[in-house]
Amino acid sequence: MYKNIFDTHAHYDDERFNEDRDELLSSLFKGSVSHIINCGCDLKSSLTTIELAEKYPQLYAAIGVHAHEASDCTAEDLAEIKKLYSHSKVVAVGEIGLDYYYDFSPRDRQIEVFTQQVKLANELDLPVIIHDREAHEDTLNILKDLRPKGVVHCFSGSKEMAEEIVKLGLYIGLGGAVTFKNARRPIEVAEYLPLDRLLLETDAPYMTPVPFRGKRCDSAHIAYTAEKIAEVKSMDVQELIDICNRNAKKLFGINE
Ligand code: NI
Repeated sequence: MYKNIFDTHAHYDDERFNEDRDELLSSLFKGSVSHIINCGCDLKSSLTTIELAEKYPQLYAAIGVHAHEASDCTAEDLAEIKKLYSHSKVVAVGEIGLDYYYDFSPRDRQIEVFTQQVKLANELDLPVIIHDREAHEDTLNILKDLRPKGVVHCFSGSKEMAEEIVKLGLYIGLGGAVTFKNARRPIEVAEYLPLDRLLLETDAPYMTPVPFRGKRCDSAHIAYTAEKIAEVKSMDVQELIDICNRNAKKLFGINE
């Protein structure tokens, strides 16, 4: 069994964990997983994320408003979330970003809410956790303009875009998608990506790696993602996991 897995992106507040959340998290932390960052997507899930972080010493909170929730979120919600950043377990602004695949919120509103939160992260000196789905150009322009520190999670762009992201000093999060049969792009990105820019993640309960694709994902499944990336990079799996653990601790300012 591997050890020291740092899952930099999960949603354990999701209702798919209602039946066994505590049992599962306890067993993960007794097993291969050392740390988890749980990401909120709106005020409600940001509050639940903080509750989880208070309960589990190795679980940290990222809080913010997701692209999908941009149109529903009010100025009061954003102000309420802003107050929560002083909590000692909150280590990032996220998950925030743009999603032009689903377009659940109008694009101009997505850009407004995203930009506002990147500016806030800079003000608070916190990293951002960015969701970018089919919005590569706008995402990149905002990042070039505002230059936050952080990670583009579940990276789905090309190798060329990955190069741009790396040039901006940002990290790239790779998850279960590298194990999928049609994974040409994520594999090219994994091949190219310098090891000091790589973070491992799940997006649990989603993006479950092969051979469990379709089932509920949890942080232990990162083993399969790490095995695939290590294979592509011709390196030892545990060494890759250890490097990504150090990268994550550095980015999110976690010492223990
Ligand atoms: Ni997510």
